[in-house]
Amino acid sequence: MSASNHFNDENSNTSNNPTFDAILQARLDRRGVLRTGIVSMVGSTTLGIAACGGGSSNAAAANVPLGFTAVSKSLADKVTVPAGYSAEVVIALGDPLTASTPDYKNDGTDTNFANRSGDHHDGMEWFGLDGNERGLLAINHEATTDSGTGNAPSYFLHANGGTTGMVRPASEVDKEIDIHGVSVVEVKKSGRKWSYVKDSPFNYRVTPVTEVTLSGPVAGNALVKTKYAVEGRKTRGTINNCGTGRTPWGSFLTGEENWVGYFARNSTDDAARADKSVTALKRYGSNQGAKSRHGWETAVTDAAVIAATATDKYARFNASKTGSSTDGSDDYRNELNGQGYIVEMDVYNKSVTPKKRTALGRFAHESAVFSIPQIGKPLAVYMGDDARGEYIYKFVSAANWTESDKNPVSRITTGDKFLDAGKLLVAKFDSTGAGTWVELSISNPLISGYSGYAFTDQADVLVNARLAADAVGATKMDRPEWCTVNPSNGEVYYTLTNNSKRKLEPASGEWAVDSGNPRTYSDTKGNTTSKGNVNGHILRLKEAANAADATRFTWDIYLFGAQSDAAAGSINLSNLTSDQDFSSPDGLAFSPATGILWIQTDDGAYTDVSNCMMLAALPGQVGDGSKKTLEYTKESDKTKVMVDTYVGKIPTSSTLKRFLVGAVDCEITGITETPDGKTLFVNIQHPGENTLTTDIANPSKYTSQWPSNAGYGAGKRPRSATIAITKNDDGKIGY
Ligand code: FEO
Ligand code: CA
Ligand code: CA
Ligand code: CA
Repeated sequence: MSASNHFNDENSNTSNNPTFDAILQARLDRRGVLRTGIVSMVGSTTLGIAACGGGSSNAAAANVPLGFTAVSKSLADKVTVPAGYSAEVVIALGDPLTASTPDYKNDGTDTNFANRSGDHHDGMEWFGLDGNERGLLAINHEATTDSGTGNAPSYFLHANGGTTGMVRPASEVDKEIDIHGVSVVEVKKSGRKWSYVKDSPFNYRVTPVTEVTLSGPVAGNALVKTKYAVEGRKTRGTINNCGTGRTPWGSFLTGEENWVGYFARNSTDDAARADKSVTALKRYGSNQGAKSRHGWETAVTDAAVIAATATDKYARFNASKTGSSTDGSDDYRNELNGQGYIVEMDVYNKSVTPKKRTALGRFAHESAVFSIPQIGKPLAVYMGDDARGEYIYKFVSAANWTESDKNPVSRITTGDKFLDAGKLLVAKFDSTGAGTWVELSISNPLISGYSGYAFTDQADVLVNARLAADAVGATKMDRPEWCTVNPSNGEVYYTLTNNSKRKLEPASGEWAVDSGNPRTYSDTKGNTTSKGNVNGHILRLKEAANAADATRFTWDIYLFGAQSDAAAGSINLSNLTSDQDFSSPDGLAFSPATGILWIQTDDGAYTDVSNCMMLAALPGQVGDGSKKTLEYTKESDKTKVMVDTYVGKIPTSSTLKRFLVGAVDCEITGITETPDGKTLFVNIQHPGENTLTTDIANPSKYTSQWPSNAGYGAGKRPRSATIAITKNDDGKIGY
């Protein structure tokens, strides 16, 4: 597991919502339910072509999707793609984004990261400039590889690995802050080779210090007033940006995920506050006495900082009540309420201030994915909250889509129209294969009268969406990561990456198995045994009447992650073969160009057998498989527990195949393509992240030396990077 996983694996849902373990009582015929929800599929190219079959090797000549030869699992320190494909680095941590910024030396002496590529490349979207050969990539920089102890420094960013003492030096903190956020970078193709344009006027960075506007119902609310923003209408930056989205009007969306961990709270802060904010902070995982991930707030006592003007650049990372004001306008007690949103950016125009779209709710955001736009209808935005036992959400716009919205005069103004007004809803899954979306509204008596927290207004509901979702009894999921919409039929797919707290007999802070999260089992890795839903699954849902604003849906589980030799009847429920097996699905995206579903992993369970990977899939549709009843026996009293679930059609060698395996200790995340589907951009995040050596001068101690061992860049320290994948015959990727 990664050194920093305690920050990325947060677990603060202690509400008592139903987990549907009493599902034996359900008697509804699922197929009847599904029939009512099914609308005929339109343009289902994926299904038709998959039916052609074709074995993996000879199908390559037939040029059908998934015609490539599957890539084997691997522990090699390199990126492997199928025969006939090439993968090359386009941009890596530290690469300069302006003409005057020096080349990256990659020895810990580099500075000026506000003008360089950030670290831990994550979600990513393509914005075209010139057909399929020139465009902009908007790239999230989620985090940094740290030592995981104390005020953990970014390990590879500093010559000596960084300072772990009580006070972090401002010179180190400045680098660490700036490697977070978003990069916008021009890329172009010459011949067959992709590279980035160092001096492009389009290049820009958004970092955790960039001014960002708060937009929507929360803007101006008492909950977001700070010393920096006494009117509560702005905040600084965006942080821990994980999944992404692209709006139908051509702007970029970035999700703020594990932002809580960057902020400290004093050990006596609960008493200092003595109000409902203590409940809200705890629900989001911020406890008094909590240290921050990197100790940035401690730099306030650094001599260089004291000598400089006080901008509270570092002080804001202590989110304690330290002032005497009644509204928080003299401290950063409300700073956390300005984090945790979907942020919209105009990638083409660096002068447009990014906006946090507060109507979409505040939680640990991953991707934000739109329903297929229909003229005269509202838009839905699907989202997940990635922590154990958190929820699946959707936002439905108040405004209806029109033809002219596709090419607006101002993208950010069109964002105001669709993303500042609407309804936020949360999903409840039942044991029959159906489900409901419940609106999170202050006018719902379950919310306005909730005993767990006294909501003031709708802004309070949005800021504390987790508490509102608790109040309406939403279904606790196995860590919702990315979602994606099937362009051929509008069905919505969600990765549920894993959940170590999913149990048959849950203790406090754990959850019983239910239909949507039906597995709990043991997995061994070396000498350790892990329990729970170790390998994760991919759930999909179909809206009633295919409507974006539907309040009912049907669902099944498209794939269960598992190692291929795990028990077929209870763990490897999708019968994955050795060319298909995976653990901890995370990144997920349908290609509009090819209809292929790309599945990426961020795994720590199966990494004794293979580095993280990416698979290509041609899924069918909700309900194409069968009902399965899992039978468990309780250890305590030997009674049996039966759990009904719905397993999607078992994949074949023509419908699911491993396409890529990454370097050592990396996560595969972020995916976008050129419109012709002939270049796929993918991110290799944190290679070598389990390097824990005090001998940083000795590269042989690094667990990875990628991408320098692939011929890219100076130095041997491992670097997160974006790669471009092309097919040597210039065909579409995945064929
Ligand atoms: Fe940043 Fe939930 O992965
Ligand atoms: Ca194992
Ligand atoms: Ca992720
Ligand atoms: Ca992840």
